[in-house]
Amino acid sequence: MSEQTIALVTGANKGIGYEIAAGLGALGWLVGVGARDEQRREAAVAKLRAGGADAFGVPLDVTDQAGVEAAADLIEKRAGRLDVLVNNAGITGGMPQTPTTVDPETVRAAVETNVIGVIRVTNAMLPLLRRSASPRIVNMSSTVGSLTRQTTPGAETGPISAAYSPSKTFLNAVTVQYAKELRDTNILINAACPGFTATDLNSFRGVRTPEQGAAIAIRLATLPADGPTGGFFDDEGVIPW
Ligand SMILES: NC(=O)c1ccc[n+]([C@@H]2O[C@H](COP(=O)([O-])OP(=O)(O)OC[C@H]3O[C@@H](n4cnc5c(N)ncnc54)[C@H](OP(=O)(O)O)[C@@H]3O)[C@@H](O)[C@H]2O)c1
Repeated sequence: MSEQTIALVTGANKGIGYEIAAGLGALGWLVGVGARDEQRREAAVAKLRAGGADAFGVPLDVTDQAGVEAAADLIEKRAGRLDVLVNNAGITGGMPQTPTTVDPETVRAAVETNVIGVIRVTNAMLPLLRRSASPRIVNMSSTVGSLTRQTTPGAETGPISAAYSPSKTFLNAVTVQYAKELRDTNILINAACPGFTATDLNSFRGVRTPEQGAAIAIRLATLPADGPTGGFFDDEGVIPW
């Protein structure tokens, strides 16, 4: 089996995910570019390779069980194991989504991608991660999922949201449960917030660059063996739940 570290980044065709893939590629890692659209995926892989990264495309829609299993098969054939999984793919579900008027389907869509998609991909990749000497899982969450921030006057972030913000709270809770179950293994799993980053997700209203947004995921993807697990971090440190 290759000694080159192998990572999979979901939603890596653009935005923060693309920059996470570029950052891990710059470390000399083999990077699987998970993306659901063939053209966008291949364009991203070509751009990453042109920049010197050892990247390959992984067809991956996180809402498609059979497709996710096929992605795990592809990685097994390509590398035989997985060292790092970055669950980055995410959607807002569309705004506005005030609780009193939200379409329940908007909530369902956000949870399907942002929470169930993460569980689906993580569980499909776990057999490959268990073959790694130092497996790391990073879940891209958001400070809008912090109930402490949402309820601390002056600290609230993001718009009123019945789908996106609660989906990230749910993702944080799921991350904690994985950490509990995996406590006696060498797998470290953490949630990250990239900060308010200019991407399609917010019509480029964010104030950070995608490269800056990628930094925390790269840090958590490269944690040492005694690094934290079951935590929630941004560039400043620990984020309150
Ligand atoms: N931007 C911010 O300020 C901010 C703040 C906090 C947290 N985050 C989180 O950071 C992550 C990346 O967001 P971003 O800002 O980079 O957004 P983005 O530019 O909209 O990128 C989202 C990525 O997720 C992919 N995706 C969406 N649904 C998918 C699915 N079902 N299967 C596979 N891929 C799917 C998209 O693919 P397509 O191109 O095919 O749609 C795209 O590659 C998200 O989890 C987001 O919630 C972002």
